[in-house]
Amino acid sequence: MKRVCVTGAGGYIGSWVVKLLLSKGYMVHGTVRDPCDETKNGHLKKLENAEERLHLFKADLLDFESLCAAFVDCSGVIHVASPVLLLAASGNHVPNPEEGRSGGDTMENIRRPYTDVRDLSEAILQLYENPESSGRYICSAYSFRAKEFVAKLESLFPGYNYPKFFTEKSGFNPLNSKKLLKLGWTYRLIEETIVDTIKNYEESGLLEKGKPFPSTIRF
Ligand SMILES: NC(=O)c1ccc[n+]([C@@H]2O[C@H](COP(=O)([O-])OP(=O)(O)OC[C@H]3O[C@@H](n4cnc5c(N)ncnc54)[C@H](OP(=O)(O)O)[C@@H]3O)[C@@H](O)[C@H]2O)c1
Repeated sequence: MKRVCVTGAGGYIGSWVVKLLLSKGYMVHGTVRDPCDETKNGHLKKLENAEERLHLFKADLLDFESLCAAFVDCSGVIHVASPVLLLAASGNHVPNPEEGRSGGDTMENIRRPYTDVRDLSEAILQLYENPESSGRYICSAYSFRAKEFVAKLESLFPGYNYPKFFTEKSGFNPLNSKKLLKLGWTYRLIEETIVDTIKNYEESGLLEKGKPFPSTIRF
């Protein structure tokens, strides 16, 4: 059976990669810093097939021996773990509709990249499985200015308090994922990503009209 190690298995991207690997029949060695921390890692044990095919290893990136123990018998390592400083301007970020309430009605019209974490996980697995893949790949599906993105949110989820005015600010240049697309990577429509994300936030109670909106939404 195919066996692969995923570092940072309990993190945001790591968890989705583990879920995908389990769904594809892999045996997974997931590294986490504290396997007993249910808040951080409890969700992994609930994944489909986790009981039979997910083995968690306690490992820190700075501890060579602990990592080596997790790699034993694996044919590959998907290295996702990283100390992450989450900034509003990095990675995927949904503009906060409530910003209009707290900071006036104005928002910086910055351009940001957007990629569904499920599509990102597919890209990672495609690269892992394809012997032709080599070098660095950029994985970015869309790029929108804040104003465009807020308009999309508003059309799909009217009723929140969205910013009305936008100040011009330069941000990311659109990223080029041609190399990945050439390997056959595809990504879902941004509307599907937004709907699934916001519904999930609403269902879990993180997003509720009248309640403070999370400052960053990851999808
Ligand atoms: N999420 C995004 O939108 C995005 C966008 C672009 C790039 N990235 C990159 O993708 C990578 C993963 O991001 P993420 O969003 O999945 O972050 P995350 O949810 O914070 O996950 C990071 C993982 O790394 C682990 N980790 C941190 N320091 C470690 C150490 N010293 N030893 C072992 N494990 C350690 C954390 O373990 P603990 O749970 O034990 O803390 C956690 O599981 C990062 O390199 C990030 O910069 C993310």
